[in-house]
Amino acid sequence: MLCAYVSSPNPQSPLDALEVGDRPEPEPPEGWVTVEVKAASLNHHDIWSLRGVGLAEEQMPMILGCDAAGIDPDGNEVIVHAVISGESWRGDETLDPKRSLLSEKHQGTLAERVAVPARNLVAKPEGMSFEQAACLPTAWLTAYRMLFVTGDLAPGQTVLVQGATGGVASAAIKLGAAAGLRVWVTSRTEEKRERGLGLGASAAFEPGARLPERVDAVLETVGEATWAHSLRSLKPGGKLVVSGATSGMNPPAELPRIFFLQLQILGSTMGSKDELERLMRFCSEHDVEPEIDRVLPLAEAREGFAAMEAGELVGKVVFQP
Ligand SMILES: NC(=O)c1ccc[n+]([C@@H]2O[C@H](COP(=O)([O-])OP(=O)(O)OC[C@H]3O[C@@H](n4cnc5c(N)ncnc54)[C@H](OP(=O)(O)O)[C@@H]3O)[C@@H](O)[C@H]2O)c1
Repeated sequence: MLCAYVSSPNPQSPLDALEVGDRPEPEPPEGWVTVEVKAASLNHHDIWSLRGVGLAEEQMPMILGCDAAGIDPDGNEVIVHAVISGESWRGDETLDPKRSLLSEKHQGTLAERVAVPARNLVAKPEGMSFEQAACLPTAWLTAYRMLFVTGDLAPGQTVLVQGATGGVASAAIKLGAAAGLRVWVTSRTEEKRERGLGLGASAAFEPGARLPERVDAVLETVGEATWAHSLRSLKPGGKLVVSGATSGMNPPAELPRIFFLQLQILGSTMGSKDELERLMRFCSEHDVEPEIDRVLPLAEAREGFAAMEAGELVGKVVFQP
């Protein structure tokens, strides 16, 4: 079957590690099912995988992709929850020390078919397209948890989102605005700041800019390039919710600011299956739709990866196998 995969990672030049071609059909173990993929979305996680982050040599070749929406063996339209916990694990799947995401230990979703545990399937809402549904399980679920679970933010509060146009950032803007938060963003170009406003942000700033006032929370996925600004932007007692570090993993610690201002640094990763179901309901109730930059045939996956690597996207890239 056709898929996008990695067999020889390249830390410096991830696109050179991308292969699009045939791999064997999935063979689901007991308790797993094969989903016919109708749409699968790209995440920065897939670029990390091409760089070899989190993938041991014995796991190669690995089909990329965490997110999929498709048809299960009974003909139901489903979304795949990408967090694979141990069979005996109960409760929040992200807290299982042995959990992995699809494409880390098990073959991923950028394929015609993918094997997943039957318990990881949730029903796709009627009225939501496969393309929209395929955006939810990673970027959108991560933004949902950062805002409403880890961040525990309430309507009327102000949240700064670092980066406006990425998968997680665009989701955070749309979800936050729909929930009544005042959402401020930073972005690297004037054009993208405009796009951030179009997604629902109420103000957009250059990276590192002094804000009109300090904020209740900052959502951080950029890491090194924005970390110090995130800490400087918080009110005393404010929350820095972090789920990624695209620009680098070693930001300045700024310890005095953290303890004197009693800032809270909160790690956040993906979300539970329950949260994915709540996210779907929220989107349906509030008419919130994922921002999709482009939809491509899977055979043309390279174009989507290249656009993400170049930072050209506004929202998500979706592949159709
Ligand atoms: N822990 C988790 O569960 C989890 C889940 C999802 C994602 N993540 C991580 O979160 C990060 C974002 O993921 P994504 O899928 O949203 O990626 P993406 O679509 O490629 O978005 C990248 C974002 O980074 C922003 N950015 C700002 N300054 C940057 C810089 N100097 N270098 C690079 N990017 C910069 C971009 O903003 P502008 O272009 O608007 O400036 C854009 O919003 C990744 O590192 C990913 O691994 C973690």
